[in-house]
Amino acid sequence: MMKVVKLGGLIWLLLLPLTLAIAGAPQDNSRIEARIDTLMAKMTLAEKIGQLAQYRDISDENLALIRAGKAGSILSVRGAQATNHVQKVAIEESRLGIPLLIGNDVIHGYRTIFPIPLALASSWAPEWVQKSATVAAQEAAASGTHWTFAPMVDIARDPRWGRIAECAGEDPHLGSVMARAYVQGFQGEDFSASTAVIACAKHYVAYGAATAGRDYNTVDISEQTLREIYLPPFQAAIDAGAITIMSAFNCLNGVPASANYFTLTQILRQEWGFGGFVVSDWNSVGELLNHGVAVSYSEAGKKALLAGVDMDMGSHVYNQNLADLVTNGELAVADIDQSVRRILRVKIRKRLFEQPYVEPEREAATVLSAENLAIALQVARRSIVLLKNDNHLLPLSKKLKSLAVIGPLAADRYTPLGSWVCEGRAEDVISVLAGIKQKIADKKILSVQGCDIAGKQTDGFAAAVAAAQRAEVAVLVVGESANLSGEAASRTSLDLPGGQEGLIKAVYATGTPTVVVLMNGRPLTINWTAEHVPAILEIWQLGDQCGNAVADVLFGDYNPGGKLPVTFPRSVGQIPLYYNHLNTGRPPAADKFTSKYIDLPVTPLFSFGCGLSYTQFDYRDLQITPADFGDSAAIIASAVVQNTGDRSGDEVVQLYVQDVIASLSRPVKELKGFQRITLAAGDKQRVEFRLNRNDLGFYDKDIKYVVEPGLFKVWIGGNSEGGLEGSFEIRN
Ligand code: NOJ
Repeated sequence: MMKVVKLGGLIWLLLLPLTLAIAGAPQDNSRIEARIDTLMAKMTLAEKIGQLAQYRDISDENLALIRAGKAGSILSVRGAQATNHVQKVAIEESRLGIPLLIGNDVIHGYRTIFPIPLALASSWAPEWVQKSATVAAQEAAASGTHWTFAPMVDIARDPRWGRIAECAGEDPHLGSVMARAYVQGFQGEDFSASTAVIACAKHYVAYGAATAGRDYNTVDISEQTLREIYLPPFQAAIDAGAITIMSAFNCLNGVPASANYFTLTQILRQEWGFGGFVVSDWNSVGELLNHGVAVSYSEAGKKALLAGVDMDMGSHVYNQNLADLVTNGELAVADIDQSVRRILRVKIRKRLFEQPYVEPEREAATVLSAENLAIALQVARRSIVLLKNDNHLLPLSKKLKSLAVIGPLAADRYTPLGSWVCEGRAEDVISVLAGIKQKIADKKILSVQGCDIAGKQTDGFAAAVAAAQRAEVAVLVVGESANLSGEAASRTSLDLPGGQEGLIKAVYATGTPTVVVLMNGRPLTINWTAEHVPAILEIWQLGDQCGNAVADVLFGDYNPGGKLPVTFPRSVGQIPLYYNHLNTGRPPAADKFTSKYIDLPVTPLFSFGCGLSYTQFDYRDLQITPADFGDSAAIIASAVVQNTGDRSGDEVVQLYVQDVIASLSRPVKELKGFQRITLAAGDKQRVEFRLNRNDLGFYDKDIKYVVEPGLFKVWIGGNSEGGLEGSFEIRN
């Protein structure tokens, strides 16, 4: 067992009694502030500025900065051995021995890899998302990580943007529920626990609204849209206890996110009372020059600090410029002190001074445990969305005599890891083919790749067609490679890459019943497939347990219940296309002069919230009690949901509202609640939602949150289209 702390500086010996007194007890704020005071009294200006700097990896240059007390945090150092090593340098070789905060991108798993966030959101099962984050935190913490750059709580209405894979989709309510689940999972009850990591809600803010879906691009949106669509998941993350925030790369209405006083200080601190610290995204302080709002790195550093960025990730701007700015009188020491205090506060609350190291044995016992993989399987199964299933083609019988498994992603063990692999390894991944092999005998399977993911070659089609002709059913596993989504992976086409659609057509033409399994990081324009192929499963990138989860669904050992967290357009030309849009003065109709396209329907290919099951659910008897709001703070909307099929299944029951007439035009529908329930065949349940008066407002022309009296429509159903419809009134 490693010693508690090998204190380098004398100061820690003096602080030890205090440290021991508070260990194990809830940390008292005034004691924390006293510790910060004592420590700051010993710090030089350079050491203070050092706390505001974060560097990547262990290099000789970075080790020298750490020794000199010029680093507060390090990122992308992973594993007990490496983190202990770098921490030891900070503690034993720097003058004051202040421990480093070690951050990593633990986005959807550390070594045990879970589905990508877009897939996790498809589960509409926050309790399982929370479990996945708990496991990720346990593994990361055991390996020396204190802090994860997650959750990513951006809203994305544009699937061209590759980072849509990393978020919870297009809806602020679903996004907020997911944000809370992640934070609770990562941080647990108390993030000082040795099994927890600190959460960082990112990328603040509106990064997902990049013009034309091009990563890092300009964002220009109204303040209403900012507050109603993009900010709520951040507020939810902070309410759940997230103690750090990452400022984004993008410009918002002309102001770069890492120099935006309005969002970083006025909204975050003054309106919301956020007490943690803000870290910039990688080099975004330095990039203020490219945005054209700073003429020098010195000016960039000053602007970022004064706007509210406490820690500079990677750009060296703070370390190289802040001291001179203080000397020149352009910054006050108090400006620096404020950020240093915020960072030290988090370090103390995380008990880094008491527990700076990890035991390598704990890492080995924690990562990739059978228990963690079992949770990964549960989560992966819940993340799968059944998009189409004509004539009950699925589930397949395990007794079928032959099955063709075709496609470039069938045997792929790397793509299911998604765009943030962390410590995940392809060797840990169960491919779809391997999963199927565990369900039915090898000799029944005819496995052919058919084509590459992105290539145009068709020479493999003949073998695929031959296999399909010999098989009772063909399963095609197609989609995007992991590097086609994620950061800096925007696409102008959302078609299946390369010749994959041609492969689907060739296999389908054999007449063999065909199932398409889509493995991708964003909505795709799969119009031909959606029209012709009888069964389609959207599996996204499911992590280590991909193949087992898919095989469970294909063969009916698990009945899929996921729903889309994002709209699938028919064409890139429809983007941005999202369910919670405003009406127009001329809603689409048969008349020429209405809001539509002359070459394509305005409707999506697959709508937000949709997803099928191997059973059916019937909705009836919508009730609203009391019938109108009157003076009450809330009403209950409910409906009876019955499983009318012959097998048990999950349904995501969704509640939508519309403020019919208001002082500003309001969305045609807004999700206000959902519950994923399991019903046995024939069973029914009345599902109730509480609608608070205060959840029914919006930001008016003066940016004041108002709940306006009048008529509201309400729907309860299994997706964002249709559902049982009712109404209620809000009166003053
Ligand atoms: C840049 C990415 O935008 C962000 O999401 C990530 O956390 C940082 N790099 C650190 O790797």
